[in-house]
Amino acid sequence: MPFETYVPAEEVAAVLIEPIQGDGGIVKTPTKYMQKVYDYAHEHGMLFAVDEVNQGLGRTGKWWSIEHFGLEPDLMSVGKSIASGLPLSAVIGRQDILNSLGSPANVFTTAGNPVTTAAAMATLDVIEDEHLVERSAKLGERAKAFFEAEKQKYPFIGDVRMYGLNGGINIVDPETGADDVDATTKLIYRVFELGALIISLRGNVLRFQPPLVITDEQLDKAFEILDQAFSDFAAGKLSLPDNADEMGW
Ligand SMILES: Cc1ncc(COP(=O)(O)O)c(C=O)c1O
Repeated sequence: MPFETYVPAEEVAAVLIEPIQGDGGIVKTPTKYMQKVYDYAHEHGMLFAVDEVNQGLGRTGKWWSIEHFGLEPDLMSVGKSIASGLPLSAVIGRQDILNSLGSPANVFTTAGNPVTTAAAMATLDVIEDEHLVERSAKLGERAKAFFEAEKQKYPFIGDVRMYGLNGGINIVDPETGADDVDATTKLIYRVFELGALIISLRGNVLRFQPPLVITDEQLDKAFEILDQAFSDFAAGKLSLPDNADEMGW
């Protein structure tokens, strides 16, 4: 417990947690743990803040990944897709907290400017008008069914985690259950050869995060390519390219 051994709770302003880890492998915090962090923070005068940079804005099938826990954060950080690639980030939070800052405290490098905020407004309109949050949830169900079915076919597919159109698929050694980084690299290279792009997280996790505007046909094509790559790997047909060390994430 860091508050007993490292820093006293009364000296801590906020806890910041990523409710569903993105680069950590698409891993969801256990609900009970999240509730405990939330309660502990509030019991000790700390703010409960969440990082929605990677998993926010519809990626998990809800507007914000913290909605999967039924908790309302005091603060949250947002970035990346907020302006569809233009440099913009935002801190969203309770009014009393944000108003408590003196004006220079809000000056940060990728704060709003007229161009990036116009891009953000347009992005939010598209997400709403094209129902992309609902679409993420719906297509995510299809993706989950696809990977679960592949898992039945291929013993090297381990844990499958899918929240919206957003998944982590563990690639393992079927004999030992250990992470199989080489196999993952072979698979992502084969997928590239077949005309799609996927990268890995943490060495052995396939990172399945297509754009939320992907069409049904494109998604079917992606499934077809992934199935081909899995099948080629199962048949022992894949080898590592020379630059394997540079691949993945
Ligand atoms: C969860 C999370 N938070 C923050 C960041 C960094 O955001 P920025 O590059 O806007 O500082 C990233 C990745 O780049 C991320 O995945």
